[in-house]
Amino acid sequence: MKLLLLGSGGREHALAWKIAQSPKVEKLYIAPGNAGTSAVGENVDIKATDFEAIKTFALERDITMIVVGPEDPLVQGIYDYFEKDITTRHIAIIGPTAQAAQLEGSKEFAKEFMLRHNIPTARYISVTAENLDEGLEFLKTVSAPYVLKADGLCAGKGVLILPTMEDAQNELKAMLSGMFGQASATVVIEEFLSGIECSVFVMTDGEHYKVLPVAKDYKRIGEGDSGLNTGGMGSVTPVPFADEVFMEKVRTRIIEPTVNGLRQEEILYKGFIFLGLIKVNDEPMVIEYNVRMGDPETESVMLRIKSDLVDLLEGVHTGTLDTKTLVMDERAAACVIMVSGGYPGDYQKGYPITGLTEAAETDSIIFHAGTTVKHGKVVTNGGRVIAVCSYGENKEEALRKSYRVAEMIEFDKKYYRKDIGFDL
Ligand code: AMP
Ligand code: GLY
Repeated sequence: MKLLLLGSGGREHALAWKIAQSPKVEKLYIAPGNAGTSAVGENVDIKATDFEAIKTFALERDITMIVVGPEDPLVQGIYDYFEKDITTRHIAIIGPTAQAAQLEGSKEFAKEFMLRHNIPTARYISVTAENLDEGLEFLKTVSAPYVLKADGLCAGKGVLILPTMEDAQNELKAMLSGMFGQASATVVIEEFLSGIECSVFVMTDGEHYKVLPVAKDYKRIGEGDSGLNTGGMGSVTPVPFADEVFMEKVRTRIIEPTVNGLRQEEILYKGFIFLGLIKVNDEPMVIEYNVRMGDPETESVMLRIKSDLVDLLEGVHTGTLDTKTLVMDERAAACVIMVSGGYPGDYQKGYPITGLTEAAETDSIIFHAGTTVKHGKVVTNGGRVIAVCSYGENKEEALRKSYRVAEMIEFDKKYYRKDIGFDL
């Protein structure tokens, strides 16, 4: 079959790498892709949100499956766009409908859904300019720090965690007055949960589900989880605290009520569900839903899936996921993200990257996140540049291998955290 994968980051290179291994794949296109994805498929210069161009390309090339990497096309309704048109309805879109994508596209929708289905999550209130007073009252009922979340998509920047009541009151007003534009016209105020987080990825066909390897990501730029938030500085899988007892709770209290709740409400969902979980006194609670795979978790999770991913995705599309097998690699996997100096603030692009050929001769797997080709050379093209991923008998071994390779790869002002996995 011919497949089209949408997106351009490390997550998409990892998905492309795994998809390309499937004997079912005759041709893989990535739109728009990066310098790394062009080694496992053919890049196409189309934006992941340009539905019209995607449709034209898909029909021209006889694409039968489109795998959606990032959230934007999903929240903007790519599933529905293909479904409503009789010329494109036959194409399998891996990802939820626009309505289901509200689980990520609207924090208020997600919280109301969890409340309806009794899914454990932080106590909250949803506030607009109309009921600001109620929001200010709610803040008095929770203790510091205070969690404010813009309702809509803010490219990962919409959550504020504030140390004092005064900050929380001021930031709440600023958010409602347009700090994140329309995305913060509604704000969810939440009780702060204290615990350790992990990312659980579920594949569902709307009825059945499979749980992929559990991972943990590291979001802060600095070691010891300090400094600014980034798109992700590394990941490891498995996560020791997500043991069988914990995962049984996750299945019965979170995954099953989520999948069944969507079905009961007749919200069609065929794709990945990403549960951002926190373990509070041994109990799993939901911090957030995302409607796609995580980045940089995907880069290590894909290493641990032994089964044919495309076969599983066919099961997602046809509602036969229960007949498919998901075999996981028992080894650990780790991913270290190499970023441009200055990121997540200002940084330069266009620096040549060397050492990639030597890195390719090791047993680590290199995924490109922000790279492009200029005058025949691979150059930096984003804040997050390269994901160095490795297997190991345990996470220490996997990380040791990734760090060795991260030393071999050079570009001006390169930076990476040297403590990924430190808290596990
Ligand atoms: P999000 O953008 O929803 O992924 O949130 C960003 C990060 O904020 C999460 O990964 C958590 O570390 C943190 N966070 C969000 N909500 C809460 C909460 N209720 N309690 C504690 N931390 C939270
Ligand atoms: N790693 C978190 C995310 O992809 O949103």
